[in-house]
Amino acid sequence: MKTLRIVLLAAFAVVWSGLIAAGADTGAGSLQLAQVSEGFDPESRYAAACFACHSTGAAGAPRVAPGNALEWAPRLEKGLDAVVENTVNGMGTMPPKGLCFDCTPEELRAIVEFMIASSQ
Ligand code: HEC
Repeated sequence: MKTLRIVLLAAFAVVWSGLIAAGADTGAGSLQLAQVSEGFDPESRYAAACFACHSTGAAGAPRVAPGNALEWAPRLEKGLDAVVENTVNGMGTMPPKGLCFDCTPEELRAIVEFMIASSQ
C-alpha cells in the first residue's frame, strides 16, 4: 500500500492529477464488492447455473426475461429474504442452491436480484 502511494505520488509529480483520481475510483469499486467474492458476476452465474430452467420455465420455474413480472409478483409477496432462502434450500423441483454449489447465500441473493430486475 505504501509503495502504491509513493508510485502514485511520483506519477502526480510528473504526469497529471487525474491519475490519482483514477486510482481512488478503483479502491471504492473493490469495497462495493466486499459482500460477494471478488469479481463475482451475477449475470454470468445466472447464465451458467440457472438459465437452463429459468429461461424456459421448465417444471414451473418462474421465467427470467423482460415482461415476466407477473410470474414473479406472487413469489415476491413473501419477501425477498424468503425467496432467497427457498433458493438456498431448494424448492419443489428446484435443487438446493439452484445447482450453483459454490455460491454463497449472498451471491445467490445477487443472482436472484438480477433475475427479478431482468424480468420487469
Ligand atoms: C433444475 C431446474 C432449476 C435450476 C437449475 C434453477 N431453478 Fe430456480 N426454480 C426452479 C423451479 C421448478 C422453481 C419453482 C419451484 C416451485 O414453485 O415449487 C424455481 C424457483 C425459483 C425461485 C423462486 C423461489 C420462490 O420463493 O418462489 C428463485 C428465486 C429461483 N428459482 C432462483 C434460482 C437461481 C438463483 C438459480 C441458479 C443459481 C436457479 N433458480 C436454478 C427450477 C430451477
